[in-house]
Amino acid sequence: MNAQPPVVTGWRCSACETRVSISQVFSWRCPNSSQTDRHHVLEIENAIAPLRSTGDANPFVAFQRYLAWDAFAANLGLEFESRTKIIRDLDDAVAKVAGTGFRTTPFLRNDELSKSLHFTEQGGVWIKDETHNVAGSQKARHLFAQLLHLIAVEHVGRAPWRSQSERPQLAIASCGNAAIAASTLARAVNWPIQVFVPEYSDAATIKILNSLNANTVRCARVATDPPGDPCVYRFREAISSGAIPFGVQGPENAWCLDGGRTIGWEMAVVAEDLDGALFSRMFVQAGGGAFATCAANGFFAGATKPKVHAVQTEGCAPLARAFLIAQKTGGARNAGSRWSQCMWPWETTPSSIADGILDDETYDWIGACNAMVDSGGWPVVASEAQVHESFELAHRVTNVDVSPTGAAGLAGLLAIRQEIADDERVIIIFSGVRRQ
Ligand SMILES: Cc1ncc(COP(=O)(O)O)c(C=O)c1O
Ligand SMILES: [Zn+2]
Repeated sequence: MNAQPPVVTGWRCSACETRVSISQVFSWRCPNSSQTDRHHVLEIENAIAPLRSTGDANPFVAFQRYLAWDAFAANLGLEFESRTKIIRDLDDAVAKVAGTGFRTTPFLRNDELSKSLHFTEQGGVWIKDETHNVAGSQKARHLFAQLLHLIAVEHVGRAPWRSQSERPQLAIASCGNAAIAASTLARAVNWPIQVFVPEYSDAATIKILNSLNANTVRCARVATDPPGDPCVYRFREAISSGAIPFGVQGPENAWCLDGGRTIGWEMAVVAEDLDGALFSRMFVQAGGGAFATCAANGFFAGATKPKVHAVQTEGCAPLARAFLIAQKTGGARNAGSRWSQCMWPWETTPSSIADGILDDETYDWIGACNAMVDSGGWPVVASEAQVHESFELAHRVTNVDVSPTGAAGLAGLLAIRQEIADDERVIIIFSGVRRQ
C-alpha cells in the first residue's frame, strides 16, 4: 500500500500573499477577498519531485498524495486508506450518474493530424482526449476536489449543518460544461445545486441540467450591474446568502485549482515514459483560465516544461491583453498585486463558436500568466476563421467528437504553425465533447 505522506503544505494568495493553512475547513477564498474585492486567489504551495503515479486507473487515486485534498483530509485526522476509500466511494457514486468514474484519459500522437499539419515523423501533434471524461469535459476534475473537501468535512463531523437535509445549496456560474459537470457531481451525492446560466444558453445544455435536477437560473445582462458576467454577479449574491461556491473559478473557490491538475499529471507521466520524446509546446484554450493554470502546473510537476500557449479567440481575449500589460508594468510573473491594472472585463459582448471560452474575465489569469512566463510561452489569439478551421479539421482527421471549444487549442496551433519547427512535438487538449 502506498502510504507516502501528502506534499501540499498550504495556500498563499497570489495577490496579497496572505497564507492560509491547509488544515482550514472551507478555505475557498483568501481572507482578504470580499464582496467588493474579488481580486484575490489562493494558490497551492507544494513541491512535487519526483512525480510518480501509483498506476491506478483513477487519477485521484493514482496521484492522491499530490492533491491539496489529501493533505487537508490527513489534517482532519483521516488515515491514508480512509482517504483513498473516500475517493473510491465518491467515484462510484459519480459513475452511477455519469456512466463513468474518473479514469486516465487517452493521450496519443495523432498521425493524421500531424501529417496534415506537415510535422515530420519525429515531431507531431499529441491529443489529450477529455471527451469521455466524467460529464464530457475536463471540468469535473476541477470540481471533484471541491466535492471531496465537502464530503470529508461531513465524514469527520465538522460540517456546520446537522444533517444532509440542512446542507446549503451548491452554486455555480457557467455557460455549459462546468454547469453540467457540477450538476452531475451534485446529483451523485444528492446535494441541491443552483446553476446561474447566461440568457443565450442552448436548449441542449438546459435539458441536461434539468435531467440532473439542477435549479437553473437564467441571467440577463442588467443595466445596474457593473461590467462583467451577470451569471457571476447572481452567483456571488447566492454565495453571500449562504450557498457554497462550486465552480471552476479560482477566486471564487481555489479548490478547483487542485483536482484540475490531474490532467497535467496524467500527461507528464506519459511524457516521462516516452524515450526522448520531449514536448516543446502545450496549447490550452482559456476561458476563466483555471484549465490552463492546472494543465500547466500539473505538467510542470514532471520532468519537462513545454512552452504553454493559452489560446483565446479574437472575440474575447482579456488574458492576452493582461499578459501584455503585465509584461510592460513590471513583468507577467506574479503580477497579482497589479490585478486591476491588468485584468478587467472584455468590453464588447464576446462572440465565437467556441462559446465555452467567452468568459468576460480570465479569473485565473495569474496562474495562466505564471505558467506562460515560466515555460517561455505566450498567449495566442486565434481568429474566428481559425476556430472554425480547427473544428472542421478535428472532425475531418480525428475520430473524436470534439466541440468547437474543445478544439480551440488546435486553433491556437494553426495560428502560430509557421513559428513551430516541423520536428517539434506539441500537445493539444480536446477538452469537451460536442453536444447536439
Ligand atoms: C470544453 C472546455 N474547454 C476549455 C474550457 C476553458 O476552461 P477555463 O474556463 O478553466 O479556462 C471550457 C470552459 O468552459 C470548456 O468547457
Ligand atoms: Zn489575498
